[in-house]
Amino acid sequence: MPKAPIIKKNEEMEEYEEETGKLAIWKGELSKHFEKWKKQKEKDEIKKQKEEILSQSRVEKRKMKKEIREDKVAGKDYDHLIMAENLHKTYLLGTTAVAALRGVDLTIDTGNFVDIMGPSGSGKTTLLNLIGGLDTPTRGKVFLEGSNISMLSDNDLAEIRRERIGFVFQFYNLLPQMTAMENVMVPLHFSGKLSRRGKRKRAMDLLRLVELDERAHHTPSELSGGEQQRVAIARAFANDPAICVLDEPTGDLDSKTGVMILNLIRDLNRRGATFVAVSHDAAVSEFASRVFHMRDGKLTHEGKVAGLKETEIMQLKRQQETEINKEKCKSKIFQYLYANQGKTEISVVDIKNSVPDSIILNLPEHFNDILQELIDDNNIYAKIEGNLLILQ
Ligand SMILES: Nc1ncnc2c1ncn2[C@@H]1O[C@H](COP(=O)(O)OP(=O)(O)OP(=O)(O)O)[C@@H](O)[C@H]1O
Ligand SMILES: [Mg+2]
Repeated sequence: MPKAPIIKKNEEMEEYEEETGKLAIWKGELSKHFEKWKKQKEKDEIKKQKEEILSQSRVEKRKMKKEIREDKVAGKDYDHLIMAENLHKTYLLGTTAVAALRGVDLTIDTGNFVDIMGPSGSGKTTLLNLIGGLDTPTRGKVFLEGSNISMLSDNDLAEIRRERIGFVFQFYNLLPQMTAMENVMVPLHFSGKLSRRGKRKRAMDLLRLVELDERAHHTPSELSGGEQQRVAIARAFANDPAICVLDEPTGDLDSKTGVMILNLIRDLNRRGATFVAVSHDAAVSEFASRVFHMRDGKLTHEGKVAGLKETEIMQLKRQQETEINKEKCKSKIFQYLYANQGKTEISVVDIKNSVPDSIILNLPEHFNDILQELIDDNNIYAKIEGNLLILQ
C-alpha cells in the first residue's frame, strides 16, 4: 500500500494553530476546521482589499471635489464681488466666427459704479451679458460672490439672475399692460418670498426710492421715457440684488432726462448699490466711480477720462462751466432760504425747483451735496433728512 504523503507544516498552519489552539494536521491529514479557517481567511483578505480600494477611491473623490471647490472659490475670487478672468466670446454667424470678446479681465467690488464705454460693436453688451449671467463665455470664467457662474446649470443660473442681479436696458422693457407697481412686483412674484401684501408694500417702497410713488398706478404709456426708466430701476432692485447691470441706460432719453437718471443711479450708488453700466454716452462716465474703455473685444484702460468726443480743451471748458454753475446754484439756494426765513422745514425738491434747469443740469456734483456744502460753509444750523431740510 503506498504511503500517504507526509504533510509538511507551513507558516499558515502554524498561524492557524497559534490563533485557534487547534492542530492543523490530525492523524496525517489536514483538519477540516483548518480548511474552513483557510477559506474564511481568503475571503476576509479579498474583502479587506476591496475595502481598501473603495476607501482609496472615496479619498480620491473627496480630493477631487475639494479641488473643484477650491478652483471655484480660490481666495482671490472672494476678494471681489465680480471677477471676470480671460473672457472670450465668439459668435458663429453661419460659417463665420465673430470674436466679440478677446480676453477680458475685470474685477468689480461692492459699492463700485463702473462704466464701460466703447464704440458700437466693441463688445460692451456681450461683456455685460456674461457678467449678468445672461450668456456663457466661450472661454474664461466669471465669478460672482466667489462662485463660478460660467459653470452653472441653466436652472442655477436662472436663480442667480433672479436673486442676485438686477437688469436695466435701453428700452426699459416694461410690460405695457401693467401699472408701474405691477411691473415692479413681477420679480417679486418669481422669487415667491413675500405675501401679496408684502409685495405691494415692497413695490411701493421701491417706487418711493425713485420718486415715483405717486405714479404707481399708471401704465408705461402714461409715463415719460425717464419715468419708465425709473420704474425699470425700481424693478431691478426688487430682489435686493448684489449688482445691477445697465445696458445703455440713457440711450433712449434726451440728455436732460439722461442726467436725471444718472443722478438717481449715483444716489443709489452712494447708498451702497453696485452698478455696472455699458454705454456710448460720455455723460455716464461723469457719474461713474470707475471708467473702462473697450475696443475690439478688449478692455483698453481704466481711468476717469472725459467723454470720447471731447478734446482736453473742451473738457477744461466744460469743467470751468460746471464750477460756475455750482456757484450760481449756491446763490439761488441762498436766495430761496432767505425768502423762507422762519420756517423749520423746507422741501429739498422746492429748493431745487427754485434753481433754473439750465443750472441744475450742468452741475459738477449732486444737488444735495452742493446744498450740504452751502450749509457747512455758512454755519447754517440745518440738516438734510430725506426730502426735507430741517432748520434748527
Ligand atoms: N448673437 C450674436 N450673434 C452673432 N454676432 C453677434 C451677436 N451679438 C453680438 N454679435 C457681434 O459681436 C460684436 C460685439 O457686439 P456687442 O453687441 O457686444 O457690441 P456693443 O459694444 O454692445 O455694440 P452697441 O454699442 O452697438 O450696442 C459685434 O460685432 C456684433 O455684431
Ligand atoms: Mg450694445
